[in-house]
Amino acid sequence: MMPDTESSPAAAAADQPFLRELWYLVLPGSKLPARRLVAKTVLGEPLVLGRGPDGQPFALRDICPHRGIPLSCGRFDGREIECAYHGWRFDAEGRCTAIPSLVEDQAFDLGRVKVARYPCREVQGNVWVFFGRDPDQAPPIPEVADVGAGDLKIAESMLFHGPLDHAVVGLMDPAHGPFVHRAWWWRSKASIHAKAKQFAPSPLGFTMVRHRASSNSRAYRLLGGVPETEIVFRLPSIRIEHVRAGRHVLCGLTAVTPLGPRETELHHIIYWTMPWLTLLRPVLRPFVRTFLGQDRDIMAKQQVGLAHDPTLLLIDDADRPAKWYYRLKNEYARATAAGRPFENPVKPRLLRWRS
Ligand code: FES
Ligand SMILES: [Fe+2]
Repeated sequence: MMPDTESSPAAAAADQPFLRELWYLVLPGSKLPARRLVAKTVLGEPLVLGRGPDGQPFALRDICPHRGIPLSCGRFDGREIECAYHGWRFDAEGRCTAIPSLVEDQAFDLGRVKVARYPCREVQGNVWVFFGRDPDQAPPIPEVADVGAGDLKIAESMLFHGPLDHAVVGLMDPAHGPFVHRAWWWRSKASIHAKAKQFAPSPLGFTMVRHRASSNSRAYRLLGGVPETEIVFRLPSIRIEHVRAGRHVLCGLTAVTPLGPRETELHHIIYWTMPWLTLLRPVLRPFVRTFLGQDRDIMAKQQVGLAHDPTLLLIDDADRPAKWYYRLKNEYARATAAGRPFENPVKPRLLRWRS
């Protein structure tokens, strides 16, 4: 694990690859059409996702309770899943509704057969799943202010080969931009300058307090006006960038979701309210993919070194968000294990770095 020079968090909590008692963004709702099943392994668990007759998404354990074949191999008519092997049928709640091999006088209580069901909700155009014990005790699904599902304009998902922690640290790392994302349309090395940003604790994380957008990010200039940005990080692995430009907003929701201990999926969802920008959507999408691909590729290279389990350095102030992330994660793991309220370990602080 990452050393933190100022504290040594409880090893038991730190060694968890991911927290369970939280909601995770599993896929954008547009990737889950009606009458289709989508199979996905998330947090190491096999899921089959679909939409019930009411259009609401559901998530079941993707294993038939009869003889174990994935339910996603079966057929789905928009109401029930029919297992590919012996045709047992299951509804969106995971209840068994039919076993075709039974003859009339073979009394068998179908109520005994059930597929585990995960709490699943669609919020602002994205499908979230809860993997913990009690969804009523869980913090709410994070929402982006000032936008609705109709403002969702771009949804890109990308596989990152590496563990969740490094993907999250990369997500909140302010110093890699000019090196990893160097491009004529975004940053050049010569554009590096000293920055000072105020940070404050916020629910389950921290916030880079609203400020004028970085003057060396060329893409922001297209927005017109004087854009103001706020960036929120929140456990488990959610970053929300909220840019206000005049009466319009442009928001990016990035959710990093562990598929397993060494595999992570990054979802980048962009919302905006300015109609003229929607005309540019086909042009913007490849830029977004290029940008995310740069993060994916640098992380793949990082894995080559990490395979040797080196000791790593986190330096102030540029790696302070990474230190906060590890502390937040540890505190959440300890608080849920002890059944006590979460205490945010982040204190308000001005961070200074060059990028
Ligand atoms: S394995 Fe699914 S019905 Fe037999
Ligand atoms: Fe990046």
